[in-house]
Amino acid sequence: MIKVLVATDKPFAKVASDQIRAIFSEAGYHCTFFEKYPDQDSLVQAVADAEAIIIRSDIVDQNVIENAKNLKIVVRAGAGYDNVDLKAASEHNVVVMNTPGQNSNAVAELAIGMMLYQVRNHFNGSSGTELFGKTIGIHAYGNVGKHVARIARGFGMTVYAFDPFVSHSAIENDGVIAVETVEELYSKCQFVSLHIPANEKTKKSINFELLSLMPANAMLVNTARKEVICEESLKRSFNERKDFCYVSDVAPGNLSELDAFSSRIFCTPKKMGAQTAEANINAGIAAANQIIGFFEKNDVTFKVN
Ligand code: 3PG
Repeated sequence: MIKVLVATDKPFAKVASDQIRAIFSEAGYHCTFFEKYPDQDSLVQAVADAEAIIIRSDIVDQNVIENAKNLKIVVRAGAGYDNVDLKAASEHNVVVMNTPGQNSNAVAELAIGMMLYQVRNHFNGSSGTELFGKTIGIHAYGNVGKHVARIARGFGMTVYAFDPFVSHSAIENDGVIAVETVEELYSKCQFVSLHIPANEKTKKSINFELLSLMPANAMLVNTARKEVICEESLKRSFNERKDFCYVSDVAPGNLSELDAFSSRIFCTPKKMGAQTAEANINAGIAAANQIIGFFEKNDVTFKVN
């Protein structure tokens, strides 16, 4: 019997876990849930006899992989896989997959929700502003970016996007204006929503120079990764621009240094973009089916290493 471990420090909604359990039971696999675990050492111990692991933002580093002697596949139920050591996985013949698109709408809805919360002064009852008629830039037009664009258009915003990996015609078919450079995006848009992955090229790439291009009443929206922000630049932007706001699902490391700007910043207490029953069901079921497809049919669609 194939042993699957669902190792999610941030658990799926019960309705999703129940469906994952049912899928594996039907397939004749042995599935165990390991949730809200105390530390990384306990994860290392829990993976010892797993042949497959489903994770979320859980850290699968070299130590985890080396201690999971039977491991064949890790599926990140979600989009970003910067939490998995792909090199170590490949060296140990472990396939790594993600489940692209499955939780994107949930993240996009949170991005728009945080924008509303901020333009309405944290719902404190004082007079705020509207999203209607404003400009928003989608920085990377992937699955989440597309949903943000769709919802923003529904609010009557003018939507721009920058993505060197997506053709202008694909962007413009969605009623979104494609721009040539990242600088153009930031210059044109009062709101910018980040959807870039965290990798060696993007880490700390959102810097003061870029943020200072943004028009009046600039708002940066981050549901991507905290690592893409240059935190010194973030602090400098707050200091030098009295109109700069930041809303984020991934709080910066220097959040405590930004206390003085509390009316212009909002960060969720814990990363929760993908925390909806729908997203958990979609991503969890996709992950379970991908594991079964891998073992039964050697299907490696969505392999990322
Ligand atoms: C993702 O990369 O899919 C999102 O950041 C969601 O991450 P989570 O599964 O930890 O909520």
